[in-house]
Amino acid sequence: MTNSTRVLSNTTATDPLGTADVPVTFPEDFLWGTATASHQVEGGNVGNDVWLYEHVTPTMYKESSADACDHYHRYREDIALLASLGLNAYRFSLEWSRIEPAEGEFSAVAIEHYRDMLRACHEHGLTPLVTYHHFTSPQWLIAKGGWESDETPALFARFARRVTQELGDLFETACTMNEPNLAILLGELGLAEKDPADRVKNPTWVGAGRALGIPAEQVAGFQLSATEKSFEVKCAAHKAAVAAIKAVKPTMRVGWTLANSDFHAAPGGEERVARLIEENNLRYLRVSEGDDFVGIQTYNRTLLGPDGPAPAPEGSLLNPQGEEIWPWAIGAVIRQAWDTVKVPIIVTENGLNTADDAQRVDFLRTAIAEVGKCVSDGIPVGGYMCWSAMDNFEWIFGYGPKFGIIAVDRVTQERTLKESARVLGEIARSNGAVL
Ligand code: NOJ
Repeated sequence: MTNSTRVLSNTTATDPLGTADVPVTFPEDFLWGTATASHQVEGGNVGNDVWLYEHVTPTMYKESSADACDHYHRYREDIALLASLGLNAYRFSLEWSRIEPAEGEFSAVAIEHYRDMLRACHEHGLTPLVTYHHFTSPQWLIAKGGWESDETPALFARFARRVTQELGDLFETACTMNEPNLAILLGELGLAEKDPADRVKNPTWVGAGRALGIPAEQVAGFQLSATEKSFEVKCAAHKAAVAAIKAVKPTMRVGWTLANSDFHAAPGGEERVARLIEENNLRYLRVSEGDDFVGIQTYNRTLLGPDGPAPAPEGSLLNPQGEEIWPWAIGAVIRQAWDTVKVPIIVTENGLNTADDAQRVDFLRTAIAEVGKCVSDGIPVGGYMCWSAMDNFEWIFGYGPKFGIIAVDRVTQERTLKESARVLGEIARSNGAVL
């Protein structure tokens, strides 16, 4: 490992010397890439539920996704740019509301669009990892009860089967569903309802319910439901989709991707941490038993006191938004995942929200070194996808947060490479030898 001075050192972590001296060899076929999601980059996804939530009045969304990064039209240039950095993989998602705009009706035009995206990946030497559902659902699905309806697993499986029939010859790795457990974490932070009756307090759900002709209590928006019922529905939908995909293409590598945080207790927070580890991380991980891989998505650690989130300790490294930077979390969560369920792992998202790209460079080097240590310890980690390829629409927060290694001019859509793009490409080209 060279250039180790840029790897952050963490005096409070289990490895007090930091990561600098650990020799790391990544597997020959390790996937180095970035990730995006359809609604966050494509633009104009008017048929999904999030578009509706953005446009009800009042809304908890800061702004409309509008044209996003116009990736729907610029994907060929974007894919070429990512490949030119030296990356060898790209994770993106299919927009269900484009492919099946009305229940049971499939769009040949949308399917051809994604076929061409996949072709573009292959032409540029990027291995595609395809997510079938990344938060957004067709409005018609939400109107039927969405992620709390017993009908949804079969509807999702039908979509998964059709997509695999139409596109499955062009990719080998499928993520069924993105972060089904996010609601648990957000529920803990007071951002998702555990009790459906509480949804009437959220004007966005009330407005969406009115538009869809259903009571607000039934708007389980973009899987943002922390109820027991939605846990059951999401698990059933995942398993049904795995079976549907395998029935079409038995060799497809299939898994789902989880928002697993590295939970730490502030004084008095021990019980809360134990509960969250179980509810948010472990029970979802156990559902992965028998899958071909589990996607791990970790950004930082979550400090919890007795009453909820605790402030970052004095002297912590912070991003310009005042959030703690903790790149070591990814290693801890990979180990927890592997200890819980012996299923191969892909880091399907990891990254930093910062306006200061030098922070992102240090973060990436440190986090990737953590992944490397897991590999050295014999944990089968097959890839690292940085979130995100480009600055994009960060859900309720709009375009403020900056996760991208490529900047996007919000007026002209012009792409500008950041230093972190060059660094990630260099790490990829050297297969992790240059960190
Ligand atoms: C995980 C989600 O999958 C993605 O959509 C989101 O933008 C990133 N986390 C950053 O918050």
